[in-house]
Amino acid sequence: MSELKQSRPKGTQDFVPPDSERRRQVEAAFRHLAACYGYREIITPTFEHTAVFVKSSGEGSDVVTKEMYSFKDRAERDLTLRPEGTPGVVRAALENRLRLPCRLYYVGPFFRYGRPQKGRFREFGQVGVEALGEASPLVDAEIIYFGADFFRRLGISDCTVQVNSIGCRTCRPAYRETLRKSLFDQKERLCADCLVRLERNPLRVFDCKVETCRQAVQDAPTPRQHLCADCERHHEQVLSALTRRGLRHAANDRLVRGLDYYNRTTFEYLSTSLGAQDSLGGGGRYDYLVEDFGGPPTPGVGVAIGLERTLLAAPVAPAPARRHLAFVIWLTEAERAAAQELADRLRTDGIAAQVDYDARKVKGQFRSADAAEATCCIIIGPDELAKSVYSLKDLATGEQREVASDVLVEAVRALFRD
Ligand code: HAM
Repeated sequence: MSELKQSRPKGTQDFVPPDSERRRQVEAAFRHLAACYGYREIITPTFEHTAVFVKSSGEGSDVVTKEMYSFKDRAERDLTLRPEGTPGVVRAALENRLRLPCRLYYVGPFFRYGRPQKGRFREFGQVGVEALGEASPLVDAEIIYFGADFFRRLGISDCTVQVNSIGCRTCRPAYRETLRKSLFDQKERLCADCLVRLERNPLRVFDCKVETCRQAVQDAPTPRQHLCADCERHHEQVLSALTRRGLRHAANDRLVRGLDYYNRTTFEYLSTSLGAQDSLGGGGRYDYLVEDFGGPPTPGVGVAIGLERTLLAAPVAPAPARRHLAFVIWLTEAERAAAQELADRLRTDGIAAQVDYDARKVKGQFRSADAAEATCCIIIGPDELAKSVYSLKDLATGEQREVASDVLVEAVRALFRD
């Protein structure tokens, strides 16, 4: 092939058949499961006012400081391609005055300007759910269970769940100061970014991948050790509800997750098959976010799952449902119009049909049928037209027979049945 003039932007992907179909199948499985748990779909814009993310994900988070695709539009508005779903969903729930409590799910593209690698893209798919207005720890547990249920149904067996609690507005301020003090005492180990994090929000140091920073947080006090009585009770209830459901989980006292809006429960699903980007999905509770957007005090909890990573981890990517297609073949110019009419008739009956109008020769049309991975060919020649019959060829077996016009649909349907 001669050199192409354009290629896709770094960090983006093309999904061509059948991978596009596999991806849609995973999305469909997610939609089905989310509906089973009482969630309804919300569709929000792929870009929002930049403030939506800065105010919620957090000014000190990597997502906001390093990874956003932000731009000014022609009217000088500050806009950002959504790096995650939660802030837009909360914004939309408030703007549309949704009745609370409400359970919402979403499926769509998200954008982060990171260094592309296996499982990390600049445009990626996420599926997620948000439960707004539900405070019970049983909801945290149900959402954690929901994600695990999704992975289990896809056959991902190496998925482990890590859970933590990062406290609330009562216990966090004192903990934050204790943490700041501890990290300040080790500040020579911290990278330049973490020195800024130390001032703004020392919890963000837990997100840093630099080895010396990781060592510093290993020696630092954890949020779990500083929970108030209410947070401790909430956490215990989440853990015991997970145990009751038979979901194995591991404590990770340093799991704060890279977004500022979380309180209490944080969790992540990990898979060993993913390499460095080992997080299949994650989420947590965010009881102050609705208020931060100007709404009434409303608890919230949710999860988001990366589609590409899910597809990578699924041992046998779910096979797309067998697709069927009837290819209508015309022998001479005189039957071309009849071929088109027949294709329309089949489509009216819900049968996928295609005609190659360009081909000069029958051989070329059969080649097109092959490229389209058709199930059968329906051949119309002068004889067939005169006798009001069609020749139906099963492309799997090569078997060909004449079929009367009035039973054609039935005969094609019989071939489509598998
Ligand atoms: P997150 O952990 O930032 O959480 O993203 C969730 C998942 O999206 C990750 O575990 C990963 O599978 C996938 N993901 C993130 N960035 C990329 C990327 N650059 N390329 C490929 N996959 C990626 C959130 O987004 C929160 N909104 C989750 C949440 C919902 N919390 C409460 N509700």
